[in-house]
Amino acid sequence: MANILPFNEVTLQAIKWENGKLQVLDQILLPAITKYVNVNGVEDGWKVINKMQVRGAPAIAMVGCLSLAVEIMKENYMDKKTLHQDVEGKLNYLISARPTAVNIKTAAEYLISLLNKLTEDNSISAEEMKKRLLDAIDEMLEKDVSDNRSIGNYGAEEILSTVHKDHLVRVLTHCNAGSLATAGYGTALGVIRSLHSKESLDQAYCTETRPYNQGARLTSYELVHDKIPATLVCDDMVAALMKNKNIDAVVVGADRVAANGDTANKIGTYQIAILAKYHNVPFYVAAPRTSIDFDTPSGDHIVIEERSEREMTHINDQRIAAAGIQCWNPAFDVTPASLITGIITEVGVYKPEDLIKLKK
Ligand code: MRU
Repeated sequence: MANILPFNEVTLQAIKWENGKLQVLDQILLPAITKYVNVNGVEDGWKVINKMQVRGAPAIAMVGCLSLAVEIMKENYMDKKTLHQDVEGKLNYLISARPTAVNIKTAAEYLISLLNKLTEDNSISAEEMKKRLLDAIDEMLEKDVSDNRSIGNYGAEEILSTVHKDHLVRVLTHCNAGSLATAGYGTALGVIRSLHSKESLDQAYCTETRPYNQGARLTSYELVHDKIPATLVCDDMVAALMKNKNIDAVVVGADRVAANGDTANKIGTYQIAILAKYHNVPFYVAAPRTSIDFDTPSGDHIVIEERSEREMTHINDQRIAAAGIQCWNPAFDVTPASLITGIITEVGVYKPEDLIKLKK
């Protein structure tokens, strides 16, 4: 049964996880309808991620892992080998739901390495191994929120110390890298939240972010919810915005940061970075270390998801593009490291060329 909140009741909680029950806020319906859908296992988890009912790289990772938790909680594993094989197979399946965001792959690798360790430890039973795995998944949720708060703080300090000391700042963001894309607080939107809480923000600007409209539907919703002074612009207004409105910094999220700092994020990010360079506006990527993929040497190696043309040709069921036109709908683009001023992580701000210092 879906859970629809009363009209006017808004929430920024993308993921509800209580007593082994998982629900996600259906982001396709926002902001008009606030409805939670049940996720009863891995198959449901794959579907809500693939359909973008839940989206944003960290939220994808968490819902994937929690959908696995829902399923394994119900199982009684005969032995550790069966548990190991089952979990590994399901994680690999979940990774395939959307190819560009790396966080779910990072989470899967972490859980598989934990399984390897527990399998080797003869003092641990299959039941205990299952419990440790579930605890590790629980901890991910808490860590995501605390990492985002650190990202918010580091990002705000960076912008205030290097960009402007003498006036309230104006920051542009793209897509939605907020509470709705994470376990809470957000990455790029976390930086904006932190600037606002320090009373240092004049105005946040967010782009519409066609074709899925994460900016118009989701980032606007979060900014209005938090009463942060904010203005929406269409994607094609960014050059004019930078020329006319004294933007102090751009902060965006990331789906995958390659080892050299090239960053895949929502389609349109690359053109904003080019415009920022032209207008001398610092361009920041806010991302937890789980978004950095040291196995991918540069952006050329990142697989870019292409989505259905219906996202472009229709709004809800209404066709807005001429029937018969061909469409190209890449969901992400890659911003080269040379256009990125800094990558704001939970352990500090790094120049793209210094990211390698974070490799474990
Ligand atoms: O297609 P989406 O909505 O999943 O894309 C989301 C983004 O591009 C975000 O900027 C990114 O995942 C970071 S979310 C903290």
